[in-house]
Amino acid sequence: MSSTIHQGAVQARQPAGTSADFAISMKGITKTFGGVKALLNVDLEVERGEIHALLGGNGAGKSTLLKILRGVQSPDAGVIRVGGEVLAEHSTEASRRAGIAMIFQEMSLIPTLSAAQNIFLNREPKTATGLIDDGECRRQARALFEEFHVAIDPDELVGNMSSGQRQLTEIVKAISQRSKILVLDEPSSALTETEVELLFGILRQLKNDGVAIIYVSHRMEEIMRIADRATILRDGRYVLTATMAELSLDKIITHIVGQEGRNLAMPQRGVSQTGEAILELHAASGPVKPIGVDLTVHRGEVVGVAGLLGSGRSSLARLVYGITPLASGSMRVKGEAVHLNSPAEAIAAGIALIPENRLREGLVARHSVASNICLPVLDRLSRWLLVSTERAGKLVNEHIVSLKVKTDSPEASMLSLSGGNQQKVVLAKGLATLPDILVLDEPTAGIDIGSKTEIVTLIRDMAHANKAVLLISSEPSELIAASDRIVVMADGRLAAEVAISDIVSDEGDPAERLQNAQQRLQLLIQKVNAND
Ligand SMILES: Nc1ncnc2c1ncn2[C@@H]1O[C@H](COP(=O)(O)OP(=O)(O)OP(=O)(O)O)[C@@H](O)[C@H]1O
Ligand SMILES: [Mg+2]
Repeated sequence: MSSTIHQGAVQARQPAGTSADFAISMKGITKTFGGVKALLNVDLEVERGEIHALLGGNGAGKSTLLKILRGVQSPDAGVIRVGGEVLAEHSTEASRRAGIAMIFQEMSLIPTLSAAQNIFLNREPKTATGLIDDGECRRQARALFEEFHVAIDPDELVGNMSSGQRQLTEIVKAISQRSKILVLDEPSSALTETEVELLFGILRQLKNDGVAIIYVSHRMEEIMRIADRATILRDGRYVLTATMAELSLDKIITHIVGQEGRNLAMPQRGVSQTGEAILELHAASGPVKPIGVDLTVHRGEVVGVAGLLGSGRSSLARLVYGITPLASGSMRVKGEAVHLNSPAEAIAAGIALIPENRLREGLVARHSVASNICLPVLDRLSRWLLVSTERAGKLVNEHIVSLKVKTDSPEASMLSLSGGNQQKVVLAKGLATLPDILVLDEPTAGIDIGSKTEIVTLIRDMAHANKAVLLISSEPSELIAASDRIVVMADGRLAAEVAISDIVSDEGDPAERLQNAQQRLQLLIQKVNAND
């Protein structure tokens, strides 16, 4: 890293002591939204040159605490110190001046601008005559991408990027401000494994330069690897701060969940009856991917779809849901040939999709929780064109309860929900159409470790209710816990298939069986990619 630009950030690491020694000290932070106590007397202290994990279940208050630090929201009570100085003014400008940069859970880049334009938005380098210097902007952006080994063209429009590239641009934008404090709220949810490695490399580099880093993620393996210390919140309250050496995974989960928690284990799945073929794809291809897919899914069956990012899993989901039409091959639903031209046609055929990107495809952010859940089923709920409010209310409440959506009321705006709770509403919305075929694309992204098991159980319940489920997931543990068989995609094609009984042994401790099966699945994914 070039030392000239970074001089301001290089500081010797100091031992913890008074709050003056901390890069950040937040004390007694309280914040209420209407009747909801989002935070109650919460403390967070972060040292220079430390990667500090902020952990807690969905709705625990993590994003709220960080938005207060970034000046997006003001606390009702509490004191924030940055490098020992009290941060008296609560505004984004004051926080930025104090050296705080943040990567939000929901992305903030402008799709119609290039990577370089986004990075320097509102602080563009100017020419001698005061005009925006596009060439200089591009040059500096290129230098930044090179410095952090990110292979992105500065001229690429953000709208054309993959979600991982967008996330990396957002990260480079934040670090380009050479801040002393960098806050990342679930930065890795859109990243591939290689991109996560790249991000960790960047974070270590910044840490060595004395930057204080706050990192939020629901992926516990990442936390165990990258963090030095962690602070855990539960229901808006401070639980503890400890070094990672003092915390085991089990302890962390117990503190997050608030009781003896369990990591995802093999559920007692019972024997689900596999019935007639309900979804059949024959040599099915999309415009680009997937290519020539032959796949039959039966009633009562969960088929997991594994593969690396870009292997064509989401394209397969979009094909089945009518977002992209079949380019060649055929598709049958309940024995009848279909040619779906829209999601509406797919819903009518009994298919539902829970998409990967919740805010872009899954939700109307400005609407209430209730109207989002009801949106796709207005037909079923309406009599003589009037929506039966009683039936709608019942449907909404059932789903809010079964998925444990943490919301003040069904009428609350989606924007008032925490990230993980928004994801649960996307799930409820898909289930509300009472589909025969449910396609799930990364259903637990952003969902806390306590709720993951509930979602796996819900997927098994769908199978027991004689539905068919196609489950796309990048988490091997989730695929193994939920699926009856797993297909592996590589380069748009189905490259392998295994029955769950082939990779899970019958004997041994459940956690160990899950872990061994996970390794076998990962090896299989590697193998089909090595064969190309
Ligand atoms: N603008 C708002 N209006 C009303 N309530 C809000 C608002 N922002 C947050 N809340 C509530 O505050 C609580 C904490 O939310 P927060 O987003 O901080 O959780 P989180 O820990 O980041 O969760 P997740 O892991 O799901 O992202 C939740 O109950 C949420 O519904
Ligand atoms: Mg959050």
